[in-house]
Amino acid sequence: MKSEPPSSQSNLSKSRSVVSNQAAEHDNLSEVVTKHLETEFKRPIAQHNIDAYQYAISQINKPQIIFDSGCGNGKSTLNLAKKYPNAFIIGIDKSLHRINKLAAENSPTENKKNYCHVRADLIDFWRLAANDNIKLQHHFILYPNPWPKKHHLKRRWHGSPVFGQILALGGEIELRSNWPVYLEEFAMALALVKHTATVQPLKVTAPDYISDFEAKYHSSEQTLWQLNANLDIDSN
Ligand SMILES: C[S@@+](CC[C@H](N)C(=O)[O-])C[C@H]1O[C@@H](n2cnc3c(N)ncnc32)[C@H](O)[C@@H]1O
Repeated sequence: MKSEPPSSQSNLSKSRSVVSNQAAEHDNLSEVVTKHLETEFKRPIAQHNIDAYQYAISQINKPQIIFDSGCGNGKSTLNLAKKYPNAFIIGIDKSLHRINKLAAENSPTENKKNYCHVRADLIDFWRLAANDNIKLQHHFILYPNPWPKKHHLKRRWHGSPVFGQILALGGEIELRSNWPVYLEEFAMALALVKHTATVQPLKVTAPDYISDFEAKYHSSEQTLWQLNANLDIDSN
């Protein structure tokens, strides 16, 4: 997945709704998802992602694990750590700049914290965790880059070669987005493997935002959406 967010998402202070040439679920969704699920993804895993993964795993001090995947500046990781005191939250983002911004505001000497932030590419991090048979209590993917153009389908997480690893990690998965098509597609991809998901408008009130992107989109009066599914329940 490429790093640059699409131009319609790139202004952090003010945000416009997602502009897309795709009004509904992508016609090739089933084909792409099925092909990825049937094909082994062989791209080598980068050493820096292995290092970040091993560091994160070494920090776990709780019986349950939660991923905050694509955590941005990591604010949501802190909010989740407060909400789930019996779980260890791993905030993962490939952008060091974003994570560092938050790290500067939080004491690194705090030794009882139930979270950590790591810089890593999720494409590798998820594969490492799935290979180790890590099972999540919750998996949050909050405001993933929408990649809204039709030809972007394979950059969306459900169209990516690591959708199978997301499934393998299990747990209660929650995605939030300002583009409902993304979530409807994710739900369709889940349905292909017999998981039931709900997609509904997110009820959020200022200032109780889980993340900065949520704050930005809500302040710009955009409708926000959430997807929920329990990947531990096989709907077969
Ligand atoms: C739109 S931002 C949302 C950030 C945060 N979740 C929030 O709600 O404020 C999407 C984030 O996903 C991260 N991201 C995108 N692709 C990624 C990848 N392959 N590995 C790790 N992080 C990724 C980006 O760096 C960015 O911080």
